[in-house]
Amino acid sequence: MKTLIIAVDGPAAAGKGTLAAALARALGLPHLDTGLLYRAVARQMLLRGMDPQVDAGDAVALALQPADLARDDLRVPEIDRAASAVATQPGVRAALLQRQRDFAVATGAVIDGRDIGTVVFPDATVKLFVTASARTRALRRHLQLHDGQMPDGATLERLVEDIVARDTKDANRALSPLKCAEDAVVLETDDFDSRQVLDRALDIIHRRH
Ligand code: C5P
Repeated sequence: MKTLIIAVDGPAAAGKGTLAAALARALGLPHLDTGLLYRAVARQMLLRGMDPQVDAGDAVALALQPADLARDDLRVPEIDRAASAVATQPGVRAALLQRQRDFAVATGAVIDGRDIGTVVFPDATVKLFVTASARTRALRRHLQLHDGQMPDGATLERLVEDIVARDTKDANRALSPLKCAEDAVVLETDDFDSRQVLDRALDIIHRRH
């Protein structure tokens, strides 16, 4: 039987990770959040005082090292920005590409990121593109980072600006930009909770697979 690969792409804080983890549990597959790979490289660069914008052999060497992806501090705003900068570097992307393919090739997997359906697994069994308005995504990210606490107006505006800036950078870079694959199914999630998004995704997978 063909290995089952579910690609979950979309812009920042769209709920890809939550959906992908739930899909992996439901389907009995391993899950890889590829944003964490870029975040881990960015974190190491910041710790070493390196500029995440600059493509350097050192950055590639960091991308080739095993990384601890379970750290809570990978999701702080400083690393949001640095990961997006690191992700423009060809050497880093090439090193992480192989790692992503190796992860899924034997067992199948649910993999989430920006370029999974377009570049990493263009032949994925099912491709989902998860999205929501920048405001919804900023609010969700704040609630996640601050234990369900609502942001004040100014904080929310700043978060929306950060998210839009990151989407723009991710969508306009030369290599593997954030883009919906032609054969992906778009899941708009503004008006749905995570359980409903999971049910819709499972329905799509069962119909296509
Ligand atoms: O998904 P997450 O927000 O954790 O990703 C952090 C950054 O890593 C993104 O803004 C993007 O620049 C980069 N990324 C990428 N390709 C992926 C996953 C993440 O370029 N497949």
